[in-house]
Amino acid sequence: MKTTDIQHLDTFTSDILDGLRQNPKRLPSKYFYDAEGDKLFQQIMRMPEYYLTDAEYEIMEMHKDSILKSIGCQAFDLVELGAGDGYKTKVLLQYLLEQNVDVRYCPIDISKHVLQQLETSLQNDLPELAFNCLQGDYFDMLNELHYRSEVPKIILFLGANIGNMRPPDAQAFLKEIQKNMSHNDRLIVGFDLKKDPQIILDAYNDPAGITAAFNLNILTRINKELGANFNIDLFKHWEIYNPLTGAAKSYIISKIDQDVFIPDANQVISFTAWETIEVELSQKYSLADIDVLAHKSGLTTINRLRDHKKYFVDIIFQKS
Ligand SMILES: C[S@@+](CC[C@H](N)C(=O)[O-])C[C@H]1O[C@@H](n2cnc3c(N)ncnc32)[C@H](O)[C@@H]1O
Repeated sequence: MKTTDIQHLDTFTSDILDGLRQNPKRLPSKYFYDAEGDKLFQQIMRMPEYYLTDAEYEIMEMHKDSILKSIGCQAFDLVELGAGDGYKTKVLLQYLLEQNVDVRYCPIDISKHVLQQLETSLQNDLPELAFNCLQGDYFDMLNELHYRSEVPKIILFLGANIGNMRPPDAQAFLKEIQKNMSHNDRLIVGFDLKKDPQIILDAYNDPAGITAAFNLNILTRINKELGANFNIDLFKHWEIYNPLTGAAKSYIISKIDQDVFIPDANQVISFTAWETIEVELSQKYSLADIDVLAHKSGLTTINRLRDHKKYFVDIIFQKS
C-alpha cells in the first residue's frame, strides 16, 4: 500500500468513527464516492427526477458564449473543484477549444476512480486539450489555488456541490477561495434554487430507489474498507425538505435496535430503533440568499445564468 493510501485510510477511519460517535450521528457525504458510489451517482444524473444535471447542462450549452465573455480573456487555467465525470464541463471545454482559447484544465476530485474515467474521456473526446487531474479533498487544496500563474484562474464549482455545506460553512469556503483569487480570476458556482418542494423531494427520493442505494452504499463502503458488519437490509433511506430553510437532508435510519462492529477500529456502534444518521445536506438557495452569501464572502456577481425552468443558477463571481 502506498503512503497516500495509508493517510487516506486513517482520515477515512477517523472521520467515520467521529461521525458515528456523535449524537445525532452523521457521516460526511464526500465518502459516498467510491467506485460503486460514482457508478450510482452517474445513474442518478440520468434519472428524470434529478433535474439538476439537465438544468446545468442546458446552462452550459445555452450560455457558453456568455460565460466566455464574462471570463474576459483568451488564455486561462480552468480549475474545477469536485469535477466528477465532467459531463457538463466538457460542453464548455469543447466550445473553448473551438474558440481557440488557450485553456489548461485542472479537475480536482476526491475519487480516484472518477478521475481515471474523466482522464480517459478527455483523451478520447478532446485530444487537443491540455489537462492535469489532481486527486484529493478540495478543502485541503484551497491554498494551492494561490499559485503564481501567468494567466488568470477560472474556478468552477458546479453541480450544486456548494449545497452540501451548511450556509455558514459555504460562506467560509467561498471566502477562502476569494482570498486566493486575483482581480482577473473568476469563480463560477452552480446553486440549486428553491422551487416546488415536491420537485425537490422527488429528486432525492426516486421510485426506482437509486438514491436510496447511493446513500446506503456508504455503509457498504465502511464494511469493505473497515471490515464492519452493517446489514444494509436493516437500514433505510429517508429524505426531508424544509421549504423554510431550504435544507434537503438525506438520512439513513436504523430499522431496529442493533450493534455494528468495526473491527479495524475495534469499536462497537449501537443503534436504537429508528435512530438516524445524517448523510447529506443539499441546501437550496433563493437568488436573494445567494446575493447575501456573495456579499459576506467578498464576491461580486458579474453574470447570472439560469435554465429555462429557473430551477438552477450558475453565478460568475469576481473578487469585490
Ligand atoms: C455531486 S457530484 C458532482 C460532480 C460534478 N461537479 C457535476 O456537477 O456533475 C460531487 C463530486 O464531488 C466530489 N467531491 C465531493 N466532496 C469532495 C471533496 N471534499 N473534495 C474533492 N472532491 C469532492 C465527488 O467525488 C463527486 O465526484
